Amino acid sequence: MRKFADFYRRSIDERDAFWAEQAALIEWRTPAEQVCDYSRPPFARWFVGGTTNLCHNAVDRHLTTRADQAALIAISTETNTERSYSFAELHAEVQRMAAALQALGVKKGDRVLIYMPMVAEAAFAMLACVRIGALHSVVFGGFAAGALASRIEDAEPMAVVSADAGSRGGKVVPYKPLLDEAIALSRYKPTAVLMVDRGLAPMAMRAGRDHDWAALRARHLDAAVPCEWVESAHPSYTLYTSGTTGKPKGVQRDTGGYAVALAASMKHIFDAKAGDVFFATSDIGWVVGHSYIIYGPLLAGMATVLYEGLPTRPDAGVWWSIVEKYQVTHMFSAPTAVRVLKKQDPSWLKKHDVSSLKALWLAGEPLDEPTAQWISDALGVPIIDNYWQTETGWPILTLANGVEPQTARFGSPGKAMYGYNVKLIDEVSGEELTGADQKGVVAIEGPLPPGCMQTVWRDDARFVSTYWKSIPGRMVYSTFDWGIRDADGYYFILGRTDDVINVAGHRLGTREIEESISSHPNIAEVAVVGVADSLKGQVAMAFAVPRDASGLQDPAARLKLEGEVMQRVDAQLGAVARPARVHFLNTLPKTRSGKLLRRALQAVAERRDPGDLTTMEDPAALQQVRELIGD
Ligand code: PRX
Repeated sequence: MRKFADFYRRSIDERDAFWAEQAALIEWRTPAEQVCDYSRPPFARWFVGGTTNLCHNAVDRHLTTRADQAALIAISTETNTERSYSFAELHAEVQRMAAALQALGVKKGDRVLIYMPMVAEAAFAMLACVRIGALHSVVFGGFAAGALASRIEDAEPMAVVSADAGSRGGKVVPYKPLLDEAIALSRYKPTAVLMVDRGLAPMAMRAGRDHDWAALRARHLDAAVPCEWVESAHPSYTLYTSGTTGKPKGVQRDTGGYAVALAASMKHIFDAKAGDVFFATSDIGWVVGHSYIIYGPLLAGMATVLYEGLPTRPDAGVWWSIVEKYQVTHMFSAPTAVRVLKKQDPSWLKKHDVSSLKALWLAGEPLDEPTAQWISDALGVPIIDNYWQTETGWPILTLANGVEPQTARFGSPGKAMYGYNVKLIDEVSGEELTGADQKGVVAIEGPLPPGCMQTVWRDDARFVSTYWKSIPGRMVYSTFDWGIRDADGYYFILGRTDDVINVAGHRLGTREIEESISSHPNIAEVAVVGVADSLKGQVAMAFAVPRDASGLQDPAARLKLEGEVMQRVDAQLGAVARPARVHFLNTLPKTRSGKLLRRALQAVAERRDPGDLTTMEDPAALQQVRELIGD
């Protein structure tokens, strides 16, 4: 049982030698002169002096050995289309997209915002960006105009790639009007917009700014766009994620470190090899989509499945039919999706041959035992929990079956992965907790391993103050999660230390939702908390104080205001952020010094004991919450 332990120790104690070996998993134009430069903590530079290209490693590199093998399998049960692209075809499509972007004026270092449904063109666009050294910034298609506008303002993209519409559960969701509204709202205006027309919704094209992908593609059918060799530290992309403040942070990733980290994870964590088939059910708008729909599998020469549709449509066997048809070897999903399937007729799982599957990895939120047990019994393969963050790009805690077969322990995402010097820290004293079963903040000693965030886009100070200064007297990276570790080194995650909530595996900042709700003219004050939910893990629940409460004794009037508030969140942030309920209070529970008692509010909303309330200004506030929730 020493193999993984030794592997791990070496990754920490002989860091540079360890990562120099991993660097050989990708191709470099020029090799690195220095493995890690940590002379300016907490900023780490990996593979200094090396030049490479992410698209070269994900696509071009495989042309000599597997040009005709499937690379991208795009399936939509919304439009009933299925198309498999070989590496050679992917290479051609990516070059067409790269040529189109160049024709629109995109150059190395420019940002390109991608606001797309789950279609092959989204993958082409991402790969085309990194091919020419432009940074992509993918915004989840479920986000609405306000959320999109704030990301456009922060990323300042030269160009936007989007589509007429997505589709969900058979319902067309137009994107173009939201994009137009977002650009109108944003102080920064992109120069060019490239639209993929799927023929799902009409589009108003704005002359001079908006361009049709099909027309540009036709002009660049034979495009040969060489890969731009970039420094290892050249940013490959930014991806926005929520934190404590209302303003989402642009997580900035490098090129060389990310490529090495993902290639290493495919080998050591996923035990995958070229020719295998990976199916991650996430969305390209999230980090799992970046790392394990697009880059990880392609870097390893695997085929990857890009799926648009629900897990239950046309029936609850659709995922397993894909597994059977394409002989999927590795599957990656989130506990919520499995809980959705668990509510369906279990016979759907028996209708398909899933014997090609080696394991199912689940991440993004806590995995509960009944869910893990159910899917494990149903599939007959190992279920592997893994814990990580947008910031880290690849698992912090899981099992490395490629290094040594390891046994999962129920309720634990596993052990600290190689490269991550994980510590549990006492939040108050800043001391490291070295004993078993002690609760602390899950933290990582610098440098963060390759693949993790380099900084917050254009805000080094925020990177340092947010992540590295939150624990007193100690410069460590905080994950903002509570955890404990047992005597054998298995960690258990106990929830966030900050105001971030996790709804169906989607990470949301409660402050963002509060800001959106407060913009309603009749809302004076609001608090949003995460409340435990058996299907989604958590849901957002809002407690709002109306400016004018007259007439709100009438349930119909309350319902109307609740509906208006929800619509506002839908329109500004997207339905993904919509609170499950908006309750109206006379006053919010606060301390005498005016601090919102968020934890107490959450406890009462979950029908738990709110704990010590001696500092509370007006106990009636919580009493009203109790009555609204119903004991
Ligand atoms: O709170 C943890 C939770 O999700 C957060 C990160 O979310 P996101 O940035 O969207 O990245 C997801 C990448 C898979 C974490 O801070 N989380 C993620 N995975 C787990 C988890 N909580 C418990 N168990 C997990 N396996």
